[in-house]
Amino acid sequence: NFDSLLTPQDHLSRRASDTYYVNSDHCLRAHTSAHQHTLMQSGLDAFLVIGDVYRRDEVDRTHYPCFHQIEGVRLYSRDELLGKKSDGENVADLFAAKPDTERLPEKQETHSLDATKASEIQLKQFLESLCDELFGKEAEKRWVDAYFPFTHPSYELEVFYNGQWLEVLGCGIMEQKLLESAGVTDKIGWAFGIGLERIAMVLYGIPDIRLFWSKDTGFLSQFAGKSPTDEVKYKQISAHPQVIFDLSFFLPTTSVQFNDMTSDVYDTIRNVGGELVEQVKLTDEFENKKKGKKSQTYRIVYRSHEKALTKEEVRCIFFIIGL
Ligand code: DAH
Repeated sequence: NFDSLLTPQDHLSRRASDTYYVNSDHCLRAHTSAHQHTLMQSGLDAFLVIGDVYRRDEVDRTHYPCFHQIEGVRLYSRDELLGKKSDGENVADLFAAKPDTERLPEKQETHSLDATKASEIQLKQFLESLCDELFGKEAEKRWVDAYFPFTHPSYELEVFYNGQWLEVLGCGIMEQKLLESAGVTDKIGWAFGIGLERIAMVLYGIPDIRLFWSKDTGFLSQFAGKSPTDEVKYKQISAHPQVIFDLSFFLPTTSVQFNDMTSDVYDTIRNVGGELVEQVKLTDEFENKKKGKKSQTYRIVYRSHEKALTKEEVRCIFFIIGL
């Protein structure tokens, strides 16, 4: 979590006030970067790691001691990054030769400036297109210089979204010592890390990180079965309890297709129940072949934003639908 990433002994993130220590040898994973070393050592040169991470923090709307990150790493050989050298051609190398073996704001001591710049272009192109994918091409982006113990140079990518600059990720050119300690001596690479809840909160308009831990179907049903390209905006759930009714009936024998019926039923239930219908779902279908009859069951979840509904109040709406 720290040592393999060259994190200084006195770095803030090592403090017991920031990280959960199980004992003096073990802590809960504080970031997905913790896997960089082992995965490079295993021979991978391009990977994504997604995981739960743990940090001591006061709980509020945007902080929770457990959240999720995605980590990405990409290593390049000289030929991959700078092109194959044909005989006698003079092409740049990954590593610096004297007198360029000094650490500068724009490069590490062991890297050639060409290799750093080429990696940086790859890194930025990759992450900018990821950002376009998430927030749309129109969203304005900016690169901000940053510091991480395991990268140099380091950057943060920010996006102007919903009227403010949002920090989306941290990234940089990986410290060469990190690659070397994992047994990689002929490559150079970049890495990035993204906090997933923050992005989801912005994209879906989720106002509180604690909602991700909700088991309330009023929350979960808003995201169930959605694909990443679906437009989803979170609608605030009510603090009052749900009232659940199941509705079951035989379909008219004038053989309408099951599917045709379903959207009509959804519409009818929503038209009659209005704002009080939180969820409607087809939960069962049955066909009695002998009698040539089909039936369907729908579960309707009623819930008011104003008050706790009584079964009686719901039954009234329910009967209108039933008729
Ligand atoms: N591990 C960092 C964090 O949790 C995020 C990060 C920054 C990951 C830069 C990286 C990186 O791989 O290159 O804040």
